[in-house]
Order: sequence, then C-alpha cells, then structure tokens
Amino acid sequence: MDTIDLRSDTVTHPTPAMRAAMAAAAVGDDVYDEDPTVHALQDYAAELLGKEAALFLPTATMGNLAAVLTHCARGDEVILSRKAHIFEYEQGGASALGGVVFRTLPVNFDGTLDLDAIQAAIRPEDVHFARPRLICLENTVIGCGGTPITPEYTDQVGNLARRHGLKLHIDGARLFNAAAALNVAPERLVRAADSVQICLSKGLCAPLGALLVGTREFIAQARRVRKVLGGGMRQAGVVAAAGLVALRDMRERLVEDHYTAQLLADGLAETEGVRVEPVHLRTNMVFFHLPEGVDSAAFVAELKARNVILRGKSPFRLVTHYYITPERVRYALSAMREVLAALRVTA
Ligand SMILES: Cc1ncc(COP(=O)(O)O)c(C=O)c1O
Repeated sequence: MDTIDLRSDTVTHPTPAMRAAMAAAAVGDDVYDEDPTVHALQDYAAELLGKEAALFLPTATMGNLAAVLTHCARGDEVILSRKAHIFEYEQGGASALGGVVFRTLPVNFDGTLDLDAIQAAIRPEDVHFARPRLICLENTVIGCGGTPITPEYTDQVGNLARRHGLKLHIDGARLFNAAAALNVAPERLVRAADSVQICLSKGLCAPLGALLVGTREFIAQARRVRKVLGGGMRQAGVVAAAGLVALRDMRERLVEDHYTAQLLADGLAETEGVRVEPVHLRTNMVFFHLPEGVDSAAFVAELKARNVILRGKSPFRLVTHYYITPERVRYALSAMREVLAALRVTA
C-alpha cells in the first residue's frame, strides 16, 4: 500500500504471501462441499476456536446475519448492545430478512452490558411477548473504541444465557485483536459462545472472507442460510488460501498494531490543541478532537495532499494495521502538525 490510510483496518491489501498462496490454491466447487482449501480453512478455524465446525462466508456481515437467522425464527428476540455493529451498521438485516426483533441495551465504557440489565431484558413466556432466543456480544467492542472484553465476563453472559435457555453469539470481527491485547488464547475468549463470527479481511489483511464457527449441527443449518443469502461460493479456495495465511501468520503480529496506535495517540496528545480520548488504548483505534476552530474538511483535504488518508470529521477515528509502520506513524504525525500549523495561520 502506497498511501498512509488510517481510515480503517478494512483497507488492508493482501500480503505477498497471500497472493502466492492464492495463485497456488487447490480448488473445487464449494457449494458441492468439494473445495479442499476451504475445508482446510474451516478445519483450522474450528480448531483454533475450540468448536466442532466452521463455515466460510464472503463477509463478516453475512457471518453475523447467518448466525442470527440460524439461531432465531421469525418473531424471536435478540438482546444486544445499542452500539452493536449488528444493530447499528448491518441495515437491521436480521429484522429485514428474518423478522427477528432487536432488544437493545446501553453499553458501559468498557464494552460490557450490565448483567442485571440483560437478566431484566429476558422476557418470561407470555402470549404478549416476543420470545428471547439469543444474546449477541462483540469483541473487540467497536462502539467503545475497540476495547476487548474478558473471558470471565463472556463466561458470565454465557452462564446467564444458558440458565434461560438462550444462545450466545459473538461478533468477533476483531477477536484476534482482543486475544492479542489480553494475551489469552482465542479459544478461551469464546468458550462460552454457541457461535462466533471472525473476519479475515480487517487487521488480518486477507482480501475478503469471514468464518462462522459452532457445533456441527449449527454449521450445517447455517450452510443452508448462507446459500439462500447468496453466499454459496464455487471455487472459493482461491480466497480461502489467503484466509489460511491470515489465520496462521497474521494473528500474533496484531500487538504491533496496538503499539503503533499508542505511538500515534502519544504523538497526537503532544500536539498543541489536540485532545486524544481515551489516552490509554487497548487495541488498534485512536480517537482525537481537532483544536477549536480548525475545519475538519480542510484538515482531511490537506492531509490527503500529503498522502495521509483520514475519514469523517472531528472527533476523528484512526485505525492502525499492517501497513502503518512506526515510520509511517511518525510521517503522519509530522504531516498533521504541519497542516494544523498552516490551518491555524489561515483561520
Ligand atoms: C464489529 C464488526 N462486525 C462486523 C463488521 C462487518 O464487516 P464487513 O463490512 O466486512 O462485512 C464490522 C465491519 O467493520 C465490524 O466492525
């Protein structure tokens, strides 16, 4: 990647090792369940997360949607955070396509939902009520700055779900960032979950793809749902090959992205008038406010002219990834300082 693109970790390109693996991939028709590379990826993911089986899908959005539609029938209720990606940024797909009802709860700054609030949201059997069926958690929690949630908390939610006959799904689009930040095995983070979605195309750099993991029975049903959503792919081994490199070789290095995020946050905090919030980061996201009176659009345009790509307006969110090296962080910081100085003079 030539640009210093700080908009998201979704902008990452496949690495040379991935491109080589893609060119050499053995393939078959995956709708007939005959693609050996897809099988290898699914088996690897299931083992990594300590579950029986896995399913390869084109996107994390489809992984979440297939999970909710597999767990729930029409009219069933899903309990989740008000800021959950599934609720906020996936077009309410489970409601639109599956007639599923969302019951949203406030989220704490550390990404947790109060256990009492979850408990209170689980409706008793009554002819007036939608039937609660599923709790969804997210790890890391994007609505809370990419904070990781602990296995102990996840276990508590899992116990609560089980006591009430509910299932637990984890949107683990950035699960490996959580594992790296907490220094725990990914399997431990999802032990209490009935299903987990992991994404290959964010910090792990694969060009596309996600996996859903769970019991053999759940995955067999999810496979049917994937097909009706249009996600049954044919020679998908070409992209699964990149996914295998992503899962095997790119997980452990995510701590480097957390380091560069802290470097970026520290540099911004030392920049006059800039406010970084929160100051101590857990994973790969940095949030900052521009100094009073500085125009966001002009800031973004001037940085783009210097090859640094940002998105939105103040407070900005920056996301670090494989292509954001410490040298590039230093360049981006000096570009931001130069632009701020120029914009202050003209303001
Ligand atoms: C937590 C979370 N879940 C799911 C998704 C959906 O990913 P995609 O847009 O690649 O389908 C995202 C995307 O950023 C995400 O942040």
